Amino acid sequence: MIVLGIESSCDETSVSVVVDGEVKANLISSQLFHNKFGGVIPELSSRAHLQQIIPLIKEAQKKTKFSLSEIDLITATAGPGLIGALLVGLTFGKSLALALNKPFIPVNHIEGHIFSGFLMKEKPQFPFLSVVVSGGHTLLLLVKSEFEIVKLSTTIDDAMGEAFDKVSKMLGFGYPGGPLIQKYALEGDENFIKYPIGKSKNKFDFSFSGLKTSVLRSIQSIEKEKGLTENDKNNIAASFQKAAVNAITKRVKLALSEFNIKSISLVGGVAANQNLRNEIIYLGEKFHKSVIIPDLEYCGDNAAMIAYRGMQYHLNGDKFELNENAYPSLPSETFVL
Ligand code: KG4
Ligand code: ZN
Repeated sequence: MIVLGIESSCDETSVSVVVDGEVKANLISSQLFHNKFGGVIPELSSRAHLQQIIPLIKEAQKKTKFSLSEIDLITATAGPGLIGALLVGLTFGKSLALALNKPFIPVNHIEGHIFSGFLMKEKPQFPFLSVVVSGGHTLLLLVKSEFEIVKLSTTIDDAMGEAFDKVSKMLGFGYPGGPLIQKYALEGDENFIKYPIGKSKNKFDFSFSGLKTSVLRSIQSIEKEKGLTENDKNNIAASFQKAAVNAITKRVKLALSEFNIKSISLVGGVAANQNLRNEIIYLGEKFHKSVIIPDLEYCGDNAAMIAYRGMQYHLNGDKFELNENAYPSLPSETFVL
């Protein structure tokens, strides 16, 4: 089964061809020009998706040698994300489905991330603990089967990626903050400042706003005292990264001791973080669970995960009429994003 995936929820335009669950092409065009604004400008993002989508479709065809008429299923991200950006990929996908008379499945972006581990050779085994860490979400989920997902917790304030982006901005590193914090942290001392790990009423919930404020206070106090050196900045980046990673591992440990799961799958843009990857792998070894973390190109936003998730719905017999509201229904009553 040949599936075309389209992703345009934020600042990556991506087109993918997935054949029987195996990725044949996963093309990603990242909108790097947002860097100079210190964050994503929605209007500019939509315009860039419009420019990129057709060249990417053509490149995918060239790479895989499949013609559009050979495609069996078209999928596109329907949300959550920036509305103008989403509309580009969604409308393009629906129009293509109409023109080619092919089935179309709209896909929830977070569900795409949750199942992105299945794009890897070693797949998660049900039931698995899904740790979703991205720019907009921080979630712990118990994935019992393809369509039974129980949400254990979320963040009560900022998402983890958002915290990396904000701290990077405070330190003058730029956007997106995750990769930059990781880079400068390598030069720093992670024990320079002991930042607090956010607390919450529900023991599984995450909180990053207290950590962010503590970082801001420490920057201000060092600046006042003696001025902030490059060395201080690297030390703060490393100390922040340590606390943010600990905030995740602490909840994962709790979940592992409470729920009977077979695998842990770490997904989303922040899953690219090497320290976090190492810590989750370590926990997997300690608790005897298999750990599935996608390769870097499948951690950030990509269309392969959308094609894969769309395929699961299609194989499950789900049908979507092109004139229906495209926001996909959620797979389980307990699943709330
Ligand atoms: O999943 P994603 O590409 O987009 C959303 O769906 O939000 O995640 C983007 C987030 C950004 O906040 C970015 O700073 C973060 O992932 N990120 C990282 C790293 N690479 C990307 N955070 C920490 N360490 C990294 N190496
Ligand atoms: Zn994402």
